[in-house]
Amino acid sequence: MEMFNPEKFVQDAIEGIRNAVKGKCIVACSGGVDSTVVAVLASRAVGENAITVFIDTGLLRKNEPRTVCEKLAEMGVHYKVIDASDEFFKALKGVEDAEKKRKVIGAKFIETFERVAKEFNAEYLLQGTIAPDWIESGGSIRDTIKSHHNVGGLPEKMSLKIYEPLRDLYKDEVRRVAEVLGLPTTKRAPFPGPGLAVRVMGEVTREKVSIVREACAIVEDEIERAAKSGVMPLPWQYFAVLLNQKSVGVHGDLRSYGYTIAVRAVESVDGMTASYSKIPHEVLERISTKITNILKDSVTRVVYDISNKPPATIEWE
Ligand code: XMP
Repeated sequence: MEMFNPEKFVQDAIEGIRNAVKGKCIVACSGGVDSTVVAVLASRAVGENAITVFIDTGLLRKNEPRTVCEKLAEMGVHYKVIDASDEFFKALKGVEDAEKKRKVIGAKFIETFERVAKEFNAEYLLQGTIAPDWIESGGSIRDTIKSHHNVGGLPEKMSLKIYEPLRDLYKDEVRRVAEVLGLPTTKRAPFPGPGLAVRVMGEVTREKVSIVREACAIVEDEIERAAKSGVMPLPWQYFAVLLNQKSVGVHGDLRSYGYTIAVRAVESVDGMTASYSKIPHEVLERISTKITNILKDSVTRVVYDISNKPPATIEWE
């Protein structure tokens, strides 16, 4: 079998985009490795005929909008930021089911991209779908495990033509392509397209998202610090999940009743299978203490997820 050659892939992908895209295109960019790679490829292929669109859904990690913009500017990509957070929260109101959530978000993304495409006169939408996204979203012979937002969420009727230059690649291959392109995203842990919405169990509200955003930042901070000091290797992915179930706690002499945060950290190569990271207990304890201190008004309990994939998945929804 032929080995994957990232340099050749870059050349072929640029040529592929030039051949496929006539006129103008928009690139759907979440700021993650996959879509940022597509943004750079498109920019190299068709220059200013590609506009990269970054939607601030209100479901992003702490400081993410600013960091993404800095990165795109650094890579010389022609981009535009759309603040659509009000629209996303409105669409998610009352939605509890995980699959429905993903579909609502997918539809909102497309609706927003279509609006921008119209303004820019673009006929094509380029997105960073990779192989596990569509394999897990099911086809005729596969069961639907999760509708990844950039596949299952697409409405049946869409005016934009979709082009997915990375659809045959696995995560580790995309990272090698990112390295060849000189992207500063190379070592970044993956983040799901539907964002923090799938890390909030049940209905998504601004309040719950702000809790899980802070908890995710604490988990990232503490784990990165521990890895840097040599206490543990850096896991493949690590984050926090806000459970829908409240539990009893105690502050001084007073009873409290707050949310539970689940900490998740996994080792994986391509996200298709994963094993939970054997994080030292003192690191877990630091994470727990920091979360319950900083979020003391809303979180009473922190648990660590010790399941592998399969049978669990990496994200909880
Ligand atoms: P699961 O939870 O399916 O996740 O085991 C496997 C990897 O994919 C990420 N993930 C997503 N990525 N759109 C994406 O682009 C999505 O809808 C999505 N859902 C999960 C997840 O973070 C993990 O790295």
